[in-house]
Amino acid sequence: MRLTVAPTPTSRFRRLRKSASLRALAQENTLSVQDLIWPVFVRDGNNLREPIASMPGVERRSVDQVVRAAEEAASLGIPALCLFPYTDPAKRSEDCAEAWNPDNLANRAIRAIKAAVPEMAVMTDVALDPYNAHGHDGLVQDGIILNDETIEALVKMSLAQAESGADILGPSDMMDGRIGAMRGALEAAGHKDVVIMSYAAKYASAFYGPFRDAVGASAALKGDKKTYQMNPANSDEAMRLIERDLAEGADMVMVKPGMPYLDIIHRAKTLFGAPTYAYQVSGEYAMIKAAAQNGWIDGDRVMLESLMAFRRAGCDGVLTYFAPEVARALRDGRV
Ligand code: PBG
Repeated sequence: MRLTVAPTPTSRFRRLRKSASLRALAQENTLSVQDLIWPVFVRDGNNLREPIASMPGVERRSVDQVVRAAEEAASLGIPALCLFPYTDPAKRSEDCAEAWNPDNLANRAIRAIKAAVPEMAVMTDVALDPYNAHGHDGLVQDGIILNDETIEALVKMSLAQAESGADILGPSDMMDGRIGAMRGALEAAGHKDVVIMSYAAKYASAFYGPFRDAVGASAALKGDKKTYQMNPANSDEAMRLIERDLAEGADMVMVKPGMPYLDIIHRAKTLFGAPTYAYQVSGEYAMIKAAAQNGWIDGDRVMLESLMAFRRAGCDGVLTYFAPEVARALRDGRV
């Protein structure tokens, strides 16, 4: 785009900022409830909602309470929920077999939501970290995270989720080749319309700390995830990953974390024009909440500004723990 700007006073940018009406007319981007995906943590039990200390306002919910969340989301107009299970340590194992158990927490929650609120899009997490004792996203042998063996497990996990009625599968593992393997298996099993949102550019980030508490993987995590998640210093590599995952059959692509990586989002949207999403991760959420609770920032306004920034950068939607709060703020006209 060629910019032509007349010098002041011919141009006075403040003319279009004079009133709320003029600002509304000149506004380039919008934030809507339709842009939100709400990540929800699932635990076992009945009628339970357990707070997560490092994520004020976020809870682990038993399946019946996840259904309540889906009903709340539907009443607010939020189009999708994303499920993350907190798996009982007794069900975690070296081979991660609980990950493709048709009756595991995630699959039970998918079926319960689909039975109660069929119009709600349900997204899943495809990765092995909630199902083992070491907190890695893949199978591990002699300290090495195995790529191809992990993909076999992820394919079984994906099919079980699709079978349970998941609308969107979200592989967050960063193994090479998993999108193609998942897409092939879904087609072969007749799940032709199951969507894959690839965590295509997922960085080895320190912003995931509170999430690992939430799913019970932080105390356990041995080492770091740098052999499979991306180096935060890289940008070209993110474009190559996104291009590869789209070619392998991803319908949507995600950049994660969100706010520190807006340049990656913008580059990806400009280059590929694919449906592009960001994950405003647990650490981003926790920072805003903590500062707000201390009275250091206006939490509501920072929340809304951070989400508008994703839209401005080129996101079609955002996974955010703020989803119900944002939806209420938009409904009540607090924007
Ligand atoms: C792991 C996974 C992680 C998140 C989503 N899926 C953590 C990790 O990679 O260690 C992070 C989400 C967040 O921080 O909110 N499969």
